[in-house]
Amino acid sequence: MLCFLLPIVLVSAAIASPLATRQIDTSSHCGVLLDQWGASGASSGSDCAKLTSVSGTTVAWTTNWSWTGGSGVKSFTNIQLDVGLNKQLSQIKSIPTVWNWSQTTQGSIVADVAYDLFTSATSGGSNANEIMIWMANFNAGPISAVYMSNGQPQPVASSINVAGHTWNLYSGSNGANNVFSFLPTSGTIISFSADLNYFLKYLTAYEGLSTSQYLITAQAGTEATSGTATLTT
Ligand SMILES: *[C@@H]1O[C@H](CO)[C@@H](O)[C@H](O)[C@H]1NC(C)=O
Ligand SMILES: *[C@@H]1O[C@H](CO)[C@@H](O)[C@H](O)[C@H]1NC(C)=O
Repeated sequence: MLCFLLPIVLVSAAIASPLATRQIDTSSHCGVLLDQWGASGASSGSDCAKLTSVSGTTVAWTTNWSWTGGSGVKSFTNIQLDVGLNKQLSQIKSIPTVWNWSQTTQGSIVADVAYDLFTSATSGGSNANEIMIWMANFNAGPISAVYMSNGQPQPVASSINVAGHTWNLYSGSNGANNVFSFLPTSGTIISFSADLNYFLKYLTAYEGLSTSQYLITAQAGTEATSGTATLTT
């Protein structure tokens, strides 16, 4: 179950208007509209997703994927917030969310389970900053401008407390925009209930993110690089 406590639409599947007013589509969608932005880097594979239920602002959905080859992310199957966006960070009061999920895998996988937010200098403009809040890291790693001598990414802040959990924060460019990644310092967070605005507030207070930036995108899903898994949420 994933809940943004606001009306949500699913971009991973085929619905593109507020769900409350529509009959929900629980059929499985494979290979299309799944944000398979890196699929061409795979030697083989696919992913599928379907809604299992929608109740108010709570969406239950599942995705199963299998990718072989290539070192980059193949897909980011996600659901996306559709209202309340294009506000300046200084105007945002809260972004409450609850996310409960589980995953089964076959063998070793490379993936994350994460929220992904984007900000822009203008309302509806191009991405300037990406803010990822990872619930889990399965043999993947955050984008980082600096790596330590042991090859591990170097956090810009370590063991910080935000929204009731302890995180290491990484920062770097993906070539198109700046990326901030909050990773839990230990384990995975399979039941998360928080106000995402605390992460934005941390970045504006300590990492130079401008409060005049607009929040233009808020998503939650799984970035899949390789292996086989089913995420149920
Ligand atoms: C999420 O899990 C918590 C703890 O198990 C539970 O109290 C809560 O009702 C769940 N919320 C949703 C939206 O499933
Ligand atoms: C996902 O599950 C569907 C339905 O069971 C199945 O048809 C499809 O082949 C699976 N896809 C992957 C990539 O595992």
